[in-house]
Amino acid sequence: MFHQLKEITEKPKLYSAYTAETLWNDPYISQQMLKAHLDPASDKASRNHRFIDSSVAFLQARFNLGEGKSVIDFGCGPGLYTIRFAQLGCRVLGLDFSSNSIAYARAEAERSGLDIEYLEQNYLVYQPSDKFDLAIMIFCDYCALSDTQRKRLLKIVKSSLKEDGHFFLDVCTEHMYERIEEGTSLQYFEKGGFWSPSPHFEFTSAFKYDENRVSLEKYTIVEEDRTFEIYNWLKHFTTNELEREFDECGLEVVEMYPDFGSPSGSGESEIMAVVAR
Ligand SMILES: C[S@@+](CC[C@H](N)C(=O)[O-])C[C@H]1O[C@@H](n2cnc3c(N)ncnc32)[C@H](O)[C@@H]1O
Repeated sequence: MFHQLKEITEKPKLYSAYTAETLWNDPYISQQMLKAHLDPASDKASRNHRFIDSSVAFLQARFNLGEGKSVIDFGCGPGLYTIRFAQLGCRVLGLDFSSNSIAYARAEAERSGLDIEYLEQNYLVYQPSDKFDLAIMIFCDYCALSDTQRKRLLKIVKSSLKEDGHFFLDVCTEHMYERIEEGTSLQYFEKGGFWSPSPHFEFTSAFKYDENRVSLEKYTIVEEDRTFEIYNWLKHFTTNELEREFDECGLEVVEMYPDFGSPSGSGESEIMAVVAR
């Protein structure tokens, strides 16, 4: 038991595991995620739907979205943004590797009589064959990628954009990083819970990697006859760091919204939005 607990609580090597596939495609967990996406008040898998409406209104005004404009959504989930862009008259492509989410998005588009293209695939291996006015990646998905994956993604985004196209995304800031505390907690779910329908123990560990300003939230789920782990890495950016990273990939950061999601205007928001071209 000592060795097992040591293993669970020991700090993993940076980017030593990538479990996004389990998180978004495990039959049980991905259903839980879909429920969270579709809960209008939840901020767990997508932002709450009121915030999504106001984000889309902002994007519509900023990028003059409507007939004749095209949008590609990297990690579109069940299509909460894509459907709104299509309703504005845009041509829309949504990419996501979650089968459940894409199936839901396709059914919703059909139900609403909207012509939206969806591809069920990993956006890190997507080969663009078309150019768009706007690419989006929303809910800090960019920060969940490793350095190598982010470089690959930026290359793909760049070749998906028209010459005068823009990329809009949100990222975690250094203020979020500062507020994270390391440690491990344990909970028992007798009747099952978010991660498993069976009785299970959930170890939640937070680790920080100061040199890279990366945090890891690691879940170790212990069922009677199975143990599995979920690794949620998050890179936290300063504005300079983000500009440099984009610049190195041939994209220029043209606008930053440092208080995205925090109307207080405190200047210490945990999330900032970015427009690049
Ligand atoms: C946090 S959710 C956000 C969904 C959507 N952007 C929203 O805000 O409603 C992240 C989404 O990205 C998808 N995703 C994560 N990694 C991916 C990858 N490598 N390729 C394709 N989709 C991915 C997940 O399946 C999930 O639907």
